Amino acid sequence: MLIRDADKADLPAVLAIHNTNIAESTAIWDTDEVDLDDRLTWFTTRTEADMPILVAEIDGEVAGYASYGRWRPKTGYRFTVENSVYVDNHFQRRGVATTLLTELIARAIDSGRVHAMIAAIESSNSASIVLHERFGFHTVGELPEVGHKFGRWMDLTLMQRNFPIQP
Ligand SMILES: CC(C)(COP(=O)(O)OP(=O)(O)OC[C@H]1O[C@@H](n2cnc3c(N)ncnc32)[C@H](O)[C@@H]1OP(=O)(O)O)[C@@H](O)C(=O)NCCC(=O)NCCS
Repeated sequence: MLIRDADKADLPAVLAIHNTNIAESTAIWDTDEVDLDDRLTWFTTRTEADMPILVAEIDGEVAGYASYGRWRPKTGYRFTVENSVYVDNHFQRRGVATTLLTELIARAIDSGRVHAMIAAIESSNSASIVLHERFGFHTVGELPEVGHKFGRWMDLTLMQRNFPIQP
């Protein structure tokens, strides 16, 4: 498995994973699939802000990706990020998310600009909750019924890990 920075040529594969999660899962709380322009805007915004987008490549295919971006736009939140990790259904349970998160966290620490990393996870997504626990994230909040998808209310679990930095 190769972990590397994403480039624009990866965006069709990233889009496919993203839209599968919109259509089939509660990991992304959109209800309408997006187009390539949407992912291009996302890529450009993150890249210009010096925020990483990593892909995991297996046999030349994008098996998954991970990234982080600003938690909230106001300046006071500038040392806090929200992470995301998505793995293609065909490549799950093979350590892809673990390898991506390991590198993503290393990037956050190396940047010296990330004090808090937040994972906002739909509360029934035990795979993601267990994954983040393994990386030292702790549940810091539960927001009941703040989302609605597939005909049901969704709760949001907020998990957090902090890194010491000198602001
Ligand atoms: C959650 C997700 C990213 C995990 O990716 P993955 O590459 O399969 O994860 P890994 O193989 O690195 O698994 C690491 C650990 O996470 C846990 N885990 C992963 N998938 C799991 C599942 N389906 N059920 C229960 N635990 C699971 C296990 O503890 C696993 O370790 P193990 O395989 O040794 O038991 C993947 O299932 C996914 O993309 N899901 C849809 C999108 C999503 O929920 N993203 C997170 C949004 S917050």
